[in-house]
Amino acid sequence: MIRPLIAGNWKMNGLEAWLEVIEAIGDGLNKQPDAADCLICPPFTMIAAAAKAADKTRLNIGAQDCHTVANGAHTGDISAEMIADAGGKYVIVGHSERRADHGESDATIAAKVEAAFRAGLTPIICVGETLSERESGETIAVISSQLAGSIPASAFGQHFVVAYEPVWAIGTGKVASVEQVEEVHDKIREILGERFPGQANETPILYGGSMKPSNAPELLAVGNVNGGLIGGASLKADDFLSIYAASVS
Ligand code: 13P
Repeated sequence: MIRPLIAGNWKMNGLEAWLEVIEAIGDGLNKQPDAADCLICPPFTMIAAAAKAADKTRLNIGAQDCHTVANGAHTGDISAEMIADAGGKYVIVGHSERRADHGESDATIAAKVEAAFRAGLTPIICVGETLSERESGETIAVISSQLAGSIPASAFGQHFVVAYEPVWAIGTGKVASVEQVEEVHDKIREILGERFPGQANETPILYGGSMKPSNAPELLAVGNVNGGLIGGASLKADDFLSIYAASVS
């Protein structure tokens, strides 16, 4: 059995006052069964304070990106080591918004995954097709190629997480159907099994894209869905805790 992971990606949202949301999620988790891992990835500016606020709870804190190298002349960038130093435990890499806004290639993402391992962070590696790729029947080819390019060979023997986030379902309110999610997640599990024999059944595969309390129970019940990567609905403690509750019920 893979322990589910319910992860929130706050994207470019979160000021100091939002530490109350971190505290509310941490407190709320104490009242729910300890049967899933839980994570919030706030913006870099909040990681240290959020990690402190969540210190005595089961809530983990992570980051939304990292640089490939540990330190040096890279103005404006943040390394995996810095995230770990601030109290982060996970890092999201290859989110479609970074692939689109910053032109990140699969090779860059693979190097970021290596950076995460180097710093002792768990990488959450995102893949997902655009609407035009889905409509032209390329979904599985796109996912296969992203997985092949974004997961380095050194992931063998390491703990990592894969997140399937169809680009057309992110922030749009359009959710992939249970059949669509099942098809892609089954394929991801198969690909992981071929590439990392004996390890595929230890890798959580998350679904992300307009997950909310109302649709979480059916999405989280799909085979090979081991949790969620949640954007908008992770900004409200009650909504996020309801999704967590669905993962442990
Ligand atoms: P939404 O849940 O807002 O659609 O965002 C999903 C996402 O991109 C999480 O990484």
